[in-house]
Amino acid sequence: MERTLAIIKPDAVRRRLTGRILARIEEAGFQIRAMRLVQLTRTEAEGFYAVHRGKPFFPGLTEFMSSGPAVVLVLEAPGAIGRWRELMGATDPSKAAEGTLRREYGTSIGENATHGSDAPETAAFEIGYFFPGVELARAGGVG
Ligand code: CMP
Repeated sequence: MERTLAIIKPDAVRRRLTGRILARIEEAGFQIRAMRLVQLTRTEAEGFYAVHRGKPFFPGLTEFMSSGPAVVLVLEAPGAIGRWRELMGATDPSKAAEGTLRREYGTSIGENATHGSDAPETAAFEIGYFFPGVELARAGGVG
């Protein structure tokens, strides 16, 4: 089993797409192990995306991610990191494959509806960022 951090970004929450995206997550076979609605401060968004600090899109990215509520989730499945990235599609919605979440719900490379961890080390950091010290529900327990 593997875990990944997923975010339903402020653009998607604002457009009331949360329920539809959650349905797609469950239909794809992920177990939701943790979930919160968060309103990030600019500083929290900067901390989360620290690896991108210095890139030209960093100020816009952190402004957008702190512009309204977002849903953060821990998803579990065999190969969860890759499978969630596959379901999301390419970062740029116009390049994402047909049927992917970003193709369907994203409107630009910045406002691309969802986020996912890109590697096990990133997943550990990102899960810890939003769910520090939380004992996540385990198989055989909740869910
Ligand atoms: P995400 O998977 O959340 O990781 C970093 C985010 O930066 C990415 O999705 C995009 O939404 C955003 N971003 C904005 N502009 C760019 C860009 N030019 N290249 C890559 N990512 C970008």
